[in-house]
This record gives sequence, structure tokens and C-alpha cells, in this order.
Amino acid sequence: MLPVLVVHGGAGQIPKERAELSGAGVRAAVRGGYTILRGGGSAMDAVVEAVTLLENNPAFNAGCGSVLNSKGEVEMDAIVMDGRTLASGAVSAVRNIANPIQLARLVMEKTSHLCLTAEGANQFARTMCVPEVPAESLITDYARMRWRKNLAPDANPVECQMGKMGTVGAVAVDVAGNIACATSTGGLLNKMEGRVGDTACIGCGGYADNKVGAVSPTGHGEAIMKVVLARLILFYMEQGHSAEEASDLGLAYMKERVAGLGGVVTVDPQGNWAACFSSQQMSWAAAQKDTLYYGLFKGERFTQSIDDLH
Ligand code: GLY
Repeated sequence: MLPVLVVHGGAGQIPKERAELSGAGVRAAVRGGYTILRGGGSAMDAVVEAVTLLENNPAFNAGCGSVLNSKGEVEMDAIVMDGRTLASGAVSAVRNIANPIQLARLVMEKTSHLCLTAEGANQFARTMCVPEVPAESLITDYARMRWRKNLAPDANPVECQMGKMGTVGAVAVDVAGNIACATSTGGLLNKMEGRVGDTACIGCGGYADNKVGAVSPTGHGEAIMKVVLARLILFYMEQGHSAEEASDLGLAYMKERVAGLGGVVTVDPQGNWAACFSSQQMSWAAAQKDTLYYGLFKGERFTQSIDDLH
């Protein structure tokens, strides 16, 4: 069953004209990460590679393509976690960084802290010689259009909220049985400046433990934080539920308890995996035994050979 990689490109309601871009993006990301796993690389390298590819793809709400805050600016959150040691690193409200997921990994590897925020995270990036990019280079025409539309007096708040999702993430188990997760986001459209969501918070926007599994969530960050979704799902797995059952239980609890919608990708140490969501759609892809799996709507699971994806 090993190795395995599962990625998501965000839960919510994906406009028809964006669905194809989103599907192609998650398939390319899973292929990139799986190539590392297939070559004997680590789960950590694979999830960071997959999320880097998604951050570089303007179709997603992470890195280039991030949604804009109330001031029309990009502030991003990202987290990684290593299931071998429970080491984790995160950045929150960071600006001018093309790949926040790589900066989060540096926080894990080069500091004794778990999360650096805002200007402190940017200062750390400078000391690590991570280049800062112009703010404009992270903003797409689509993100600006949605920001303007959301500010319009007749904006539909429900439509805006659902359309706002699009966080990206990945979970993996490598041939050695090590487990990792990575999640990255521009957060919520029109969020207050300085708002930090679930993605930067360990146990909420991601968790990985070699003894249990890993989860990367997407969805309404405040709801995810209230139920500590990633760790809640692993708790259900510790109680004996499968990755899929535990994911559905966690998402159902979040819907029932705080009316929150979202989705998750989940793996267990044996390589069993799940891609589950309570929202209308979630763009996801998985790779295992050289087979690519992908879907967008509930109950959808297409397959093809991983080598057919060029
Ligand atoms: N789940 C992403 C966010 O709410 O920021």
C-alpha cells in the first residue's frame, strides 16, 4: 500500500470555468509529489513539493492566486508537520513570499518555535535568504475581480463565503512508513488584516503522527479551529475508525456543532487514504501503486495510470 500521496485544492463551490484548471492542478501536484515518493524520497519532501506546485498555480487560493484581505492585500498562512517526531513549523499572515510552505518548513527545521507571524516571519525569511517577491506578483486578475465583487453592496455573503475556500494541502506516507502533512492558504476573502486562520494552527490546519496518520483540512477556518479538526479526526482513528470513517465523523461534527463546511485528505500508517468533504465540491487527487485517483463531486473517483499524466 506504500507509498501514498493525497492532495486537495480546496473545498467549496468551484465555478464551472475554474473546475478544469483546479482538476488539472491537483493532478499535476500529486504527480510531482509522487515522483519523489516513488524514487524513495521522504513524505515530507513529497508533501512540500506537491504544495509548492499548488502555490505556484494561480488557480488556487495559496501563494500566487491567494484571495485578498479587506485592504486588497495578500496575507498567507502555511504549516508542515513531520509524523516521525511531531515536529511542526508554520507561518501566519506572511506577505511577499512565493512559497510560504517552504518557509514553514524552515521554521520547523531552523528554529525552536512552531509558528512565526507577519513581519517576524518575513524577517526570518530574510535571514534564511528566502527571496521576497513583489506583492503584485501574488495577485491574479481573478482574485482582484472577486475582491471587488465581494465589496459590492449587493454581494451575497453566503456565496462569497463558499466561494472563498481553496486552501491547498497534502498528506503522504513514504516507503519507510513516515508520515507528513502540509497545508497552505491565502485564507478568507475580505478577511480582516492580521486574521490568522486554521492553516497556521497545529491540530487545526494539519496534523501528522506516524502512530496514527495525517490530515490536511480545507474549509471555513474559524469552524475548523473551533473543533480542532485535524486532531479530532486522528482521535477518531485512534478509537478504531478507518481514515474515511474518521474523516466523515470529524466533518459531520463540525457541521452539526458549528455549522462549518469543509473537506480533508487523510492517510493512515498502512497507506489507507480518504478524500472527504461536507461542502458541495472538493478538488482532490491521490497516487498509490502508480495509479492516479481524482475527483471533484461527492462519490466521484476517476482513475488513470500515473504515467499517462503529462
Ligand atoms: N481554511 C483556510 C482559512 O480559513 O484560512
